[in-house]
Amino acid sequence: EDDVYQKGLHYERPPFTFKPLEWEQLASQRMSADTRGYVIGNAGTGETERKNRAAFEKWSIVPRRLVNTEGKFPKLTTKVLNHECPFPIAVAPVGVQRIINPDGEVASAAAAMEENVPYIMSTASSTSIEDVAKANGDGIRWYQVYWPSNEHDDITASLLKRAKAAGFTALFVTLDTFVLGWRPSDMDNGYNPFLRSDQIGVAPGFTDPVFRSRFKSKHNQEVEDNVHAAAAEWTRTIFPGFSHSWEDIKFLQEHWDGPIVLKGVQNVADAQRAVEAGVQGIVVSNHAGRQVDGGISSLGVLPRIAEAVGDKLDVFFDSGIRSGVDIAKALALGAKMCLIGRQYIYGMALGGQGGVQHVLKSLCGDLELTLHLSGIPSLSREHLNKDVLVREDE
Ligand code: FNR
Repeated sequence: EDDVYQKGLHYERPPFTFKPLEWEQLASQRMSADTRGYVIGNAGTGETERKNRAAFEKWSIVPRRLVNTEGKFPKLTTKVLNHECPFPIAVAPVGVQRIINPDGEVASAAAAMEENVPYIMSTASSTSIEDVAKANGDGIRWYQVYWPSNEHDDITASLLKRAKAAGFTALFVTLDTFVLGWRPSDMDNGYNPFLRSDQIGVAPGFTDPVFRSRFKSKHNQEVEDNVHAAAAEWTRTIFPGFSHSWEDIKFLQEHWDGPIVLKGVQNVADAQRAVEAGVQGIVVSNHAGRQVDGGISSLGVLPRIAEAVGDKLDVFFDSGIRSGVDIAKALALGAKMCLIGRQYIYGMALGGQGGVQHVLKSLCGDLELTLHLSGIPSLSREHLNKDVLVREDE
């Protein structure tokens, strides 16, 4: 926080403001209409996104006074998935980042490494697994899989093998997006970024040997001979249109040596099922309100889920986080770590790698000061729990 005040107010201007609610507006001015529609657009009428945001303001922090920490700020260290992380946040998987910035995932993976924040790479990235790993250096990185249908198990196995070899230590399996949601902005624009090899360069599937050989035997052409057909085929592969079943988790457990986290859980019974399936974590998430509109806010389901399974696996949270205060509330309601989605994408639109770093740093600074001023000396459950909040609408 000292760092932020010094640099922000005196000698080095940050790439943009410290006002998190202005970032969306500022970033949207830098994006084309197509990109803006894709990044900022939601499913349906945007009801769930509004609920995601509104849920935070229903909870208020009740600060304690005269908590003497002898000048020490709260430590933000968090242990998840066998890693000791300096901050309780991770960079959420976001696809096709080259539509935002020509460096795309290379910028965000490098930013995450610089700020000591775990990086979750999307299957829908516009950069190969190996290049993201290189940009992320010795950072902590996790791989997110959009799970191809059983007919394409060989492609899934190949992606997991490459991710493992490239130093990704955990697997995040996204369960809420086996087909894209009803997204009016993209439909109005006739825009599907996954098909736009002119904007994203090669789709990441193009670098996968198993995908390449399947494409060749089906079309009798190399991927490069018909990029449009290949992009369409890759998109169908990672969004197969139907969901797997709980039994299929075993396949991933057999092919992935390391922790597995199920992303997109919103239901207590599903969270319990995840425990029974023997996975190491869940992400309580509704994909930022981009999939099922009219769905409950993600923060609204968090306390019940954390209460049911919080001591049995690592509970991650996302959807709607815009500030360090939001992070504090999600942690108080039972999350161990929060994933940051749109906010860092806005940072990337405004300042590339430096912009992403500014967002990550600002969120952690805001969180640290908020806890400190609220008399919450650490993230341990003893200090940070539901009792530091009240609901003002009850
Ligand atoms: C996403 N998200 C996402 N999730 C995932 O598992 N794989 C992906 O490729 C993507 N792609 C993606 C693109 C864009 C433009 C957005 C906004 C989101 C969802 C993401 O990981 C996360 O769940 C939400 O973004 C979190 O909500 P906030 O922080 O954006 O409100």
